[in-house]
Amino acid sequence: MNQTVWHHLKLCAQGDPRDTIEDAAIAVDNGKIAWLGAASALPAQFAQWPREDLGGAWVTPGLVDCHTHLVYGGQRADEFAQRLAGVSYEEIARNGGGIVSTVRATRAASEAELYAQSAARLEPLLAEGVTAVEIKSGYGLELAAERKMLRVARQLGERYPVTVRTTFLGAHALPPEFAGRADDYIDEVCERMLPALADEGLVDAVDVFCERIGFSIAQSERVFEAAARRNLPVKMHAEQLSNSGGAALAARYGALSSDHLEFLDEAGVVAMKAASSVAVLLPGAYYFIRETQLPPLELLRRYEVPIAISTDSNPGTSPTTSLLLMMNMATTLFRMTVPEVLQGVTQHAARALGDAERHGTLAEGRPADFAVWDVQSLAELAYWIGRPLCARVVRGGKTVFERRLNTI
Ligand code: NIG
Ligand code: FE
Repeated sequence: MNQTVWHHLKLCAQGDPRDTIEDAAIAVDNGKIAWLGAASALPAQFAQWPREDLGGAWVTPGLVDCHTHLVYGGQRADEFAQRLAGVSYEEIARNGGGIVSTVRATRAASEAELYAQSAARLEPLLAEGVTAVEIKSGYGLELAAERKMLRVARQLGERYPVTVRTTFLGAHALPPEFAGRADDYIDEVCERMLPALADEGLVDAVDVFCERIGFSIAQSERVFEAAARRNLPVKMHAEQLSNSGGAALAARYGALSSDHLEFLDEAGVVAMKAASSVAVLLPGAYYFIRETQLPPLELLRRYEVPIAISTDSNPGTSPTTSLLLMMNMATTLFRMTVPEVLQGVTQHAARALGDAERHGTLAEGRPADFAVWDVQSLAELAYWIGRPLCARVVRGGKTVFERRLNTI
């Protein structure tokens, strides 16, 4: 029996900094939270358990990064240089660069190489207190390479102390071999790739890039129908570069989330609200492609659509491995509040992940997955720019990360 009372801590159990306990304790029994609350109210039955003193530090739920493309080959710094010289993201994509250039590198990489490159991007996220991450396919765009990506994502979840939820994004871009035949490629996605990968247990959800440079509403709907036939939840890259009505379509299929959303209109917000979809905002992509159209924050607030924040970690539009930096950007660029961004990387992100039962909040009966912070105020999580703040990560009651630098 592994029993511990974590004490001398400040607790933010829901990821809402307006709802905290100043001197709290968490009793953990075999990896699960047996009790949490004010230290003064600790029930007698836990009084004799071994104790761990957290020195008065803040504790939040482990963070959730609910939208990433973390598994891919290579990087696109050259394309970044082109964009600095004035070429737009859309132009690069139309000229055979962009997503398709990462497809070439991903197809060429062995599974072991892909694993090593991806693990190097996952580690900094985990060192920031992330305990659950979504990872999409979508740089293979053929069965074998999509399988390779999803297998790597699963392996990361098996070897690192993090929950990995996989998303099949076969409809991310048109592979060169299907040039001019987008409908045929969608047939391939729906009739061959998705069924095979789902049968292999590699798919937890299905995503589509619905956009002028991605897939149309009609094509996106076919992918969602194929997902529905397999009872797989859906989500969508929607209204990133234009208002295509993707979020409303996704809502009709009960989407977990619609993501990006800079060009979302009121009708789309209303549809998302009715479907209880989460709005996943991706400030890293907004920043990196120097977007100027802001996502409709006021509408999302007015209709009380839950908002999550994520890294969108990918080589083309958001080459970041820091969720804390995204929290900072969401406040500065999107004018989101500290409570909004903190809930956006905990409880709302867990909903977008489709795993709110396990992640995003701390409560009795749930896994003891939490982050311990080297801050005096929770607002610091959104305030510092690029400063490591996570002192310790506890997963299933065990310390899986501890930051310490030896002085000489
Ligand atoms: O989330 N929008 C489409 N997909 C990615 C970008 C992928 C890439 O450029 O490699 C995104 O922004
Ligand atoms: Fe994305």
